[in-house]
Amino acid sequence: EPVPQPEWDGISYPSFIPFREKGAEKVMQDIMDFKSRESDIILATHCKSGTHWGYEIIQMLLRNTTELEKGVKSNSMLEGIGDLSSLDSTPSPRILDTHCKFKYLPKQHIEKRNKIVHIVRNPKDVCVSFYHHALKDNFINFNGSWNDFYELWMSGKLVYGAWYSYELEIEQAEKDIPGMIYTCFYEDIKQEPVKEIKKLADFLGVECSATHIEDVAKATSFKNMQEKKFDITQIFDGKGFIYRKGEIGDWKNYFTVAQNEQFDIQFNEKMKDSNLKLTFA
Ligand code: A3P
Repeated sequence: EPVPQPEWDGISYPSFIPFREKGAEKVMQDIMDFKSRESDIILATHCKSGTHWGYEIIQMLLRNTTELEKGVKSNSMLEGIGDLSSLDSTPSPRILDTHCKFKYLPKQHIEKRNKIVHIVRNPKDVCVSFYHHALKDNFINFNGSWNDFYELWMSGKLVYGAWYSYELEIEQAEKDIPGMIYTCFYEDIKQEPVKEIKKLADFLGVECSATHIEDVAKATSFKNMQEKKFDITQIFDGKGFIYRKGEIGDWKNYFTVAQNEQFDIQFNEKMKDSNLKLTFA
């Protein structure tokens, strides 16, 4: 069943219930007007960059636990919650996540210089991950082949806007407002979870033992999360789609040589003024 694709400010959005019920403009306006607390943490990611993973690491650090959160993360996703005032009853510190671009984040959050954790992932792996998600979930009208999806990505017309504009905008904000945004890389967390989780704990101002950091790394391993959280994502459509593979470099199983070359050209052109250091392993 084709679903309407909400659109606002030149960007299309998934057919989540709030977008369908309130319209994209109102959803985005409500996010920008959201009443922030100083202790709020925003997890800012482009789609498929490890949002669910980052969310669990952050909640474990803040709550001093190694228990995966019960329930579906959608009740922390700013654009997935219809009535944002429902977050009034969430105890502090609140962890809020969103794929919306930096310029649409809650104004108060930025004014107060509240913390933002930003995860970046190799866009080639993001693209492959996105493709699988799009096939399994009907949040965008996609039912094509890998080649079709690749073309969609290259056009920059996917939901939430192009990866490039997302990353360039947040990189600029990081320069403009030093210390507010902490950027980490999916690949680094995967390769050196303990070291990366420790750095994240430092940014969050969480003091915890080396043992706890190691336990958080174990509890948030792909295997553990896939095993324990898989069923929860099935609530949506009967098919798990968040914990698919969790690896670095799956793009090599999808990109043709020609697609890879074309992607690199576009990447180098779009990112020519960027200092983002990505691993294209
Ligand atoms: P793959 O499709 O490549 O497997 P998001 O949460 O932003 O939607 O991102 C989902 C991607 O992060 C999926 O990538 C998923 O498998 C991966 N992921 C989720 N939990 C992970 C974990 N604990 N370790 C590594 N990757 C994880």
